[in-house]
Amino acid sequence: MQKLIFQTEPSYPVYIGERITEELCSCLPKSYKRLALISDSNVYPLHGERIKSLLEKTGATVFSYSIPAGESSKTHRTLQDIYAFLCECGITRTDALVALGGGVVGDVVGFAAATYLRGVDYVQIPTSLLAMIDSSVGGKTAVNLPQGKNLVGAFHQPVAVMVDPTFLATLPKAEYRNGMGEVIKYACIADEKMFDALRGGNLTVEEMLWRSLSIKKYAVEADTKDTGVRQMLNFGHTLGHAIETLSGYSVAHGEAVGVGMVEISRYGEEQGITPVGTAQAISDLLSQYGLPVSVQYTREQLFAAAMSDKKRKGDMLTLVMLKQIGSYALVDKRIEEL
Ligand SMILES: NC(=O)c1ccc[n+]([C@@H]2O[C@H](COP(=O)([O-])OP(=O)(O)OC[C@H]3O[C@@H](n4cnc5c(N)ncnc54)[C@H](O)[C@@H]3O)[C@@H](O)[C@H]2O)c1
Ligand SMILES: [Zn+2]
Repeated sequence: MQKLIFQTEPSYPVYIGERITEELCSCLPKSYKRLALISDSNVYPLHGERIKSLLEKTGATVFSYSIPAGESSKTHRTLQDIYAFLCECGITRTDALVALGGGVVGDVVGFAAATYLRGVDYVQIPTSLLAMIDSSVGGKTAVNLPQGKNLVGAFHQPVAVMVDPTFLATLPKAEYRNGMGEVIKYACIADEKMFDALRGGNLTVEEMLWRSLSIKKYAVEADTKDTGVRQMLNFGHTLGHAIETLSGYSVAHGEAVGVGMVEISRYGEEQGITPVGTAQAISDLLSQYGLPVSVQYTREQLFAAAMSDKKRKGDMLTLVMLKQIGSYALVDKRIEEL
């Protein structure tokens, strides 16, 4: 088992390893009287009862609840249901919530934990690849509005995160690929060795998780509230979000980010910021992991759609580009220039 301490305020441990959930009792930072285990309609039938009985070994009374699987559950309606469930179970400020699932469960349960009784503890047990390396750490929690994704949320750090790759055995292949888009992103911005190891196919899943999480840890610790260094994590995302918007969200996030990384690197090559050949290397690696490398939209269409990016600052847009594989640069561009 490996352990990373995220030095945020407050700090918390992230445990990584095969079957670590078996030792879950000893990984909880405190003993809680009551635990509310919240999962989704896909994950609970597969893993819920096992995790529930492991949690019961801590001596806590464990209540369980499932939300319907999918992005459409990231709403105030689901939050209301979760709050009602927490009241029914008599969860108090000295109890805790446990999020068992992908990024949807993590984000909505995290937001419930941030707001219920003005904040209670929560533990993340991510079960999708994307949740393991991205959404379960960093403390961003949110729900969607009809007007857009993640528009209401809070920063609320979990008390512990347990990253157990054994959950990936039941994850649908398309969801695994989706997570690989973000894994490749980490390699591109900060870890050339990982990029080469992914290319060579000689990286264990556990090491891939550990390396990805180490990069996220660096970014989050340097910039908890997402105003500076953390922007490096947006590599491929400005154009990726544009692809998601133009496609009406029919292109998955990891796929869109993949194409976004290739497109922004081509642009970087033309601008003399990124070495020629980088876009091709990224494109080859994405293909190797079954991810698409192009979409039907032109770069002009993508930049036009990116103008409405919520990270835009006045008439400036900060683009993350590569100085080389494993090293990034933040480049401010005037929108009219694009
Ligand atoms: N908070 C953050 O920092 C952050 C970062 C990135 C993404 N996100 C959010 O995360 C969400 C996407 O996360 P996601 O891709 O995990 O989506 P998801 O939670 O919808 O999970 C994807 C699908 O896989 C299923 N699933 C998950 N684990 C499984 C398993 N082990 N076995 C079988 N099925 C399993 C889920 O039920 C779902 O159908 C988005 O809402 C996004 O906004 C948040
Ligand atoms: Zn992303």
